[in-house]
Amino acid sequence: MKEHKFEFQYEVYDDTTELRKEDAELLTKARAVTKHAYAPYSNFFVGAVAKLDNGQTVSGTNQENASYPVGICAERVLLGNAATLYPGTGIDSLAISYDSKEVPSDHPISPCGMCRQALIEYETRTEKPIRLILAGQQGKIYIVNTIKFLLPFAFSPDELL
Ligand code: THU
Repeated sequence: MKEHKFEFQYEVYDDTTELRKEDAELLTKARAVTKHAYAPYSNFFVGAVAKLDNGQTVSGTNQENASYPVGICAERVLLGNAATLYPGTGIDSLAISYDSKEVPSDHPISPCGMCRQALIEYETRTEKPIRLILAGQQGKIYIVNTIKFLLPFAFSPDELL
């Protein structure tokens, strides 16, 4: 028997003043785009903004539905937009923020399991690590250098070959 260990590093910043200028700008955009979320059921408004390798910016917000499972997360809306507008283009950095009518937006959130699976496939097919910038409207900011850190033992398309 052999034991294996999975570890990863991430960075923690106190606020945007500690960030690189372009990261602070991307996070500011993600915080602002939460306004376009359609989340009347959860009142949890998520915004995601990515800087692509071609220099373009794309965004996504969560879009809920009265038939609850039909709702889609901000991250997967963003991936659909990126893949459609700029096919094959890597995501350099992806800022994710949220706002809420119910809870304080004062700490980072990280993508749900389904979005992690979608993000890892995008990362793999574009061969470009997606750098995540995670934060609420206020509070600490986490930076994670690849989505792979957030989904060990991910199911991969290689299994289907
Ligand atoms: N949500 C996202 O859009 N992204 C996440 O990373 C977590 C959750 C959405 C789904 C749902 O519309 C609402 O937030 C509450 O779960």
